Amino acid sequence: MVDIKQATANDLEAITEIYNEAILKTVATFDTETKTIEQQRKWFENHSSKNPILVAEENGVIFGFASLSKYSNRCAYSDTAEISLYIMEEFQGKGIGKKLMKAIIDEGEKVGLHAVIARITDGNEKSIHLHKSVGFEHIGTMKEVGFKFDKRLDVCLMQKVYSKT
Ligand SMILES: CC(C)(COP(=O)(O)OP(=O)(O)OC[C@H]1O[C@@H](n2cnc3c(N)ncnc32)[C@H](O)[C@@H]1OP(=O)(O)O)[C@@H](O)C(=O)NCCC(=O)NCCS
Repeated sequence: MVDIKQATANDLEAITEIYNEAILKTVATFDTETKTIEQQRKWFENHSSKNPILVAEENGVIFGFASLSKYSNRCAYSDTAEISLYIMEEFQGKGIGKKLMKAIIDEGEKVGLHAVIARITDGNEKSIHLHKSVGFEHIGTMKEVGFKFDKRLDVCLMQKVYSKT
């Protein structure tokens, strides 16, 4: 049974492995160089209690993570986060992304966020579907802002606003 739990520094090796797989194999992230655990530790430490990170785990193996990272360091943005969600390729398509998405969105409400932004590479229909399923709306497209694997890439912007916070 898949468990969703708060990430700790002990999970950084798994998180780094999951993210590096996406860097090397997909256009879901615009990073092109793999990260070291130390680089990911800095990313992790940049998440306060208002910026949760969750991991999906089964039998001690972590195969997915989701985060609500600071959208900007400018203070007026402090109730707005940017979402990330990654599942190891071999565990995709089993409903884990959906479970993790619901959990991180619930967590965002608990910690008092007001808005969540998603930047999704155009054509990632699975991710767009997943975001719509938890209330994200399409708010625009940034044309040809990325270049990876020899292609110019558009980015679909989506947003969710929590109604009660
Ligand atoms: C996107 C990602 C997080 C989804 O996780 P997953 O565990 O594979 O997804 P799930 O099995 O939970 O399925 C998600 C939903 O997408 C749907 N789906 C699958 N393929 C689809 C497609 N090509 N188009 C539209 N919807 C699709 C599924 O039917 C399911 O919806 P449902 O439950 O309403 O039927 C995962 O594939 C991943 O990590 N991909 C690489 C990184 C990435 O793209 N991250 C998102 C960055 S914005």
